[in-house]
Amino acid sequence: MFNKVAIITGAARGIGKGIAKQLVQDGYDVVIADYDLKTAQETAEELKSKGYKAIAVQGDVSDAQAHKDFVKAAVDNFGRLDTYVNNAGLCQVESIPNINKESLDKLFGTNVYGTVFGMQAAYEQFIKQDDGDKIRKIINASSISGHQAYDMLATYSATKFAIRAYTQAAAKEFAKDNITVNSYCPGIVLTPMYEQIEEEMSNITGAEIGEFLENFTETVTLKRPSTAKDVANFVSYLASDKSDYMTGQSVLIDGGIQFN
Ligand SMILES: NC(=O)c1ccc[n+]([C@@H]2O[C@H](COP(=O)([O-])OP(=O)(O)OC[C@H]3O[C@@H](n4cnc5c(N)ncnc54)[C@H](O)[C@@H]3O)[C@@H](O)[C@H]2O)c1
Repeated sequence: MFNKVAIITGAARGIGKGIAKQLVQDGYDVVIADYDLKTAQETAEELKSKGYKAIAVQGDVSDAQAHKDFVKAAVDNFGRLDTYVNNAGLCQVESIPNINKESLDKLFGTNVYGTVFGMQAAYEQFIKQDDGDKIRKIINASSISGHQAYDMLATYSATKFAIRAYTQAAAKEFAKDNITVNSYCPGIVLTPMYEQIEEEMSNITGAEIGEFLENFTETVTLKRPSTAKDVANFVSYLASDKSDYMTGQSVLIDGGIQFN
């Protein structure tokens, strides 16, 4: 029985950190991959202080080489790779007339290019490993915005739709190599990204800070926003052999905002 190793991008904070905290409890050694090295190191130290194996590696996911570096660090330090979580993402609130090349490049660069390059690096390593019948996992971060686009979040929504498309295509291409590809689609998760959305919405609409969250929470069937732990619990399933018969799916984990 060998150890299990996961790379989680954007794991310095927020949902990614929640996923790292969960996966170490599930028996994984983890690579905390993020462009914010200082916070990534703090997260890795937090996990190590509890007796888990974790390392921090710096890299910008919009750069294909960064993913190769994450994989190299996983293999050099922990010997292999089992699960690659393309979690890093950026959001920007803007109305369609204000969308420009800079914001398109920024959001597509991190969210879409970052996911594609991450899948490629994971695939390359999975093919190198001799894992017999073992199913290896690629897990991507989509969103409720990847199922239904939101006003003022057009580009963000487009990137999350694109991630669903890549998830489906990769699931079909990689099945023959014993690799499954799925996405998690959170609703409102109280992380620094959410705080940024609230602030930008407030700047544009003039609404009080807190008003957007209050209104949005009303639309949640379970009547509360999500924690990172709620999402991590589902990613734990996707990263386990319990999900071996599932591929190409982008699953809502949103407390009941959207139904399909
Ligand atoms: N918070 C929500 O309500 C919510 C809802 C649905 C989906 N999501 C998705 O979940 C994922 C995580 O979101 P979060 O709320 O934890 O965000 P966050 O902003 O709180 O954390 C994102 C992390 O990713 C890192 N990061 C960002 N761009 C990067 C890049 N180019 N290269 C390397 N690292 C980078 C940041 O440094 C940070 O540590 C994102 O893909 C996001 O779109 C979030």
